[in-house]
Amino acid sequence: MKKILIVNGPNLNLLGKREPGIYGSDSFEEYLPKLQARYPDVEIDYYQSNVEGLLIDKLQEGGFGLYDGIVLNAGAYTHTSVALQDCIRAIKAPVIEVHISNVHQREEFRHKSLISCACMGVICGFGLDSYRLGVEAIL
Ligand code: DQA
Repeated sequence: MKKILIVNGPNLNLLGKREPGIYGSDSFEEYLPKLQARYPDVEIDYYQSNVEGLLIDKLQEGGFGLYDGIVLNAGAYTHTSVALQDCIRAIKAPVIEVHISNVHQREEFRHKSLISCACMGVICGFGLDSYRLGVEAIL
């Protein structure tokens, strides 16, 4: 059985409540079981943290054989974190960077990702479906 880890970074615990015009009105807790039901032959685990170091701990923990791939929405750390870039480079599992919004249609500071260069690929702008596309990319 394939195993995929989805990791959400800061403020993504507020999906559904946070700027619904940009991020939609579904919480991730509502979305995740639907995604899991769509892939009955895949184990899809989920982790969220608002803390940069805890995201790194989780990627390190899952990145050496536990998972076939990791779907990562690093939230705002996407645009700031050299430590996440180094971590993604260090682990073995392929990482797909995803974003709910199309960051390239938004403020200029969101156009730059410090993690894209270390990821296998980037998906953005498809709402919560970006996560499914990330899963597809790993499979
Ligand atoms: C985001 C885009 C980031 O710029 C932002 O800081 C987020 C969410 C997205 O999923 O669209 O927190 O990663």
